[in-house]
Amino acid sequence: MHTIVQQQARPFLKWAGGKGQLLTQIEQYLPKELTLTSKIKKYFEPFLGGGALFFWLSNRFDFEKSYLYEINPEIVMCYKTIQSDVPKLIKKLKELETQYLSFSETKREAFFYDLRDEYNAYLNRKIKNHFVPRSALLIFLNKTCFNGLYRVNSKGEFNVPFGRYKNPTICDEDNLWAVHEALQRAEIIEDDFAQCLKHIDDESFVYFDPPYRPISSTASFNSYSKNIFDDAEQLRLKETFNEINNKEGLAMLSNSDPKNIDPEDHFFDNLYHDYRIERLNATRMINCNADKRGDIKEILVMNY
Ligand SMILES: C[S@@+](CC[C@H](N)C(=O)[O-])C[C@H]1O[C@@H](n2cnc3c(N)ncnc32)[C@H](O)[C@@H]1O
Repeated sequence: MHTIVQQQARPFLKWAGGKGQLLTQIEQYLPKELTLTSKIKKYFEPFLGGGALFFWLSNRFDFEKSYLYEINPEIVMCYKTIQSDVPKLIKKLKELETQYLSFSETKREAFFYDLRDEYNAYLNRKIKNHFVPRSALLIFLNKTCFNGLYRVNSKGEFNVPFGRYKNPTICDEDNLWAVHEALQRAEIIEDDFAQCLKHIDDESFVYFDPPYRPISSTASFNSYSKNIFDDAEQLRLKETFNEINNKEGLAMLSNSDPKNIDPEDHFFDNLYHDYRIERLNATRMINCNADKRGDIKEILVMNY
């Protein structure tokens, strides 16, 4: 394994729970089998989302193979399009960017809602020929909607309103090429996190970043898709973590610390009491109540 020097790949989607701000803290807890020796050959990210840690690692380490799982089919489509069709995607995104930036704010807003309808019209149509325009629309909407959120209604239609950005970068061509490179030895799989188990061996490192348990009764940022990630799912995840440990793979898991809200909530401390638990500082802006932004911790669990 060697360090590679190239244009640094970064997440191409803004994603709730994105780990960008925590990377320098997470770095300190990476296993030495990855950072000091060449033992780790396979990397797994079973809750891919924006993939912040995957891209950060792929700029630094040369894995033989990465396995990236995500349950949201739209995200998977976008990653696969960048993996195999990046020139066509860039062409389409550039067209959208040029049009959008040439408009007044009122026209931009109307354009946004037209494209949102166009994107939703593709719903449930899994036709390969549609993947480039549909991925371009998803990236466009992500860069121009309110707060870069991804939210769908009960019919599965994307319903985030227009966001008033002055000069959004809709087509970051250099980054899309860097992401394309980073994905060349990756398998992108639309499936449940537990499916990773079949590939785990003692040369594997897994990073789990599951949907958060709600940080308060009013904030429900754990519904990324129609799937609900409740405490029963957190227990199933713990079983998967145990299985990786049994297969002698290395695993790291992060989650919002429930003690941010209730100091007596020992959910993760109890669940992972057999493993090493650390706490990181995470100032997340997801909570719109200013005085709750202060001392927010992220919990980190490791089996090494
Ligand atoms: C906290 S986000 C990951 C954020 C990511 N680490 C980043 O940096 O952007 C969790 C992701 O897990 C996905 N997800 C939810 N349930 C899942 C499941 N059962 N299996 C795989 N992925 C799932 C969600 O769609 C979401 O994209």
